[in-house]
Amino acid sequence: MKELAQIASAVQVSKTMAIDALAKQMRADGVDVVGFGAGEPDFNTPDHIKAAAEKAIADNVTRYTPASGTTALKEAVCRRMREDCGLDYKPTQVIVSSGAKHCVYIALRALVDPGDEVILPAPFWVSYLELIRMMGGVPVVVGAGESAGFKMTAEQLAAAVTPKTKALILNNPCNPTGMVYSQEELEAIAKVCVEKDLYVISDEIYYSLLYDGVRFASFASFGEDVKERTILVNGVSKSYAMTGWRIGYTLSSERTAKVMANFLSHSTGSPSSISQAAAVAALTGPQDCVEAMRRAFEERRDYIVDRVNAIDGVSCIKPEGAFYIMMNVEKLLGRTICGERIDSSGDFSAALLKHGLVATVPCESSGAPNFVRWSYSTSMENIKKGMDRLEKFLKGWTAV
Ligand SMILES: Cc1ncc(COP(=O)(O)O)c(C=O)c1O
Repeated sequence: MKELAQIASAVQVSKTMAIDALAKQMRADGVDVVGFGAGEPDFNTPDHIKAAAEKAIADNVTRYTPASGTTALKEAVCRRMREDCGLDYKPTQVIVSSGAKHCVYIALRALVDPGDEVILPAPFWVSYLELIRMMGGVPVVVGAGESAGFKMTAEQLAAAVTPKTKALILNNPCNPTGMVYSQEELEAIAKVCVEKDLYVISDEIYYSLLYDGVRFASFASFGEDVKERTILVNGVSKSYAMTGWRIGYTLSSERTAKVMANFLSHSTGSPSSISQAAAVAALTGPQDCVEAMRRAFEERRDYIVDRVNAIDGVSCIKPEGAFYIMMNVEKLLGRTICGERIDSSGDFSAALLKHGLVATVPCESSGAPNFVRWSYSTSMENIKKGMDRLEKFLKGWTAV
């Protein structure tokens, strides 16, 4: 038989999903694993949102919708963006798709031809790298270390631009780092994007999860010339605990939105009609559920950051958003723990899972080889248990 397509065959499995699947399997086998791998809120979808979906089914809202989403949802998205970010978009500038991940895919489809370079600040969400490659694009990774707060500077961006550079993917607040770019940092980056004529995919899916009173600035808020070249990616997954409903959306120029809508019309057809009705309820209904979840995340973040920094051999900086911390394991490299030699964060995560029964995500594939991501989207009880186990594991305790 002939070979399968080269581009598709080169796509790597999502390591985040792989470790999460392994932890789930161990749990299904009766092993008491504490999971910190998940990239989704542990809260249930609020009741009023579920009720809207039930009503949609009862009302037979069960047919195809327009390929890029219902007008009702696009209007709801515009309203929320106006209220939360002070941005004015028309429904014709909104594209609804099956999750924010698919929105990044569709945005890259609209921008990238084979051979085009896309700048990706590291540490990055693993899917970006593979998605760029899926277009035949060339990822250009720009590393930002822990001492820089894991944030790329405008100068670094400018230095990475070549005549082949088409776009930048910015993720703010960031998965895996939880870091948030300030208004000034974004403004400087936006200036470079205009000067160098770059498109920007700004994934802002965690924007409602900010701590310490930090204020969010959307990338599109830095002037018309910036807004025109920006595709904002957002969705209901993280803010409303709706990961399984698969609704994400983009906001962009009408020209870009049309290209993305055409692409969708021949690929997904339309997002789920029922999930779209639920998303309307999420975006237009009471927002206190978002604040309640945010507060719970902030409390957990404070706890986990303090615990990690009190443990010998590991440390983390305090993130200002999302629900992840980046634990630095550099000091453990070269050591043997529970009979396992630790030469990388992958070795560390594997040993911690095997001996400590704690699932984390090594960030080698996220452009941060000496770091392990802990998602604190799990109960306080689990976080305490996980931290106790980490502490004991580092002293040589093993559960097996
Ligand atoms: C930065 C970022 N963008 C997008 C997504 C995907 O969101 P969705 O579930 O809406 O596809 C995730 C999920 O982990 C994420 O971390």
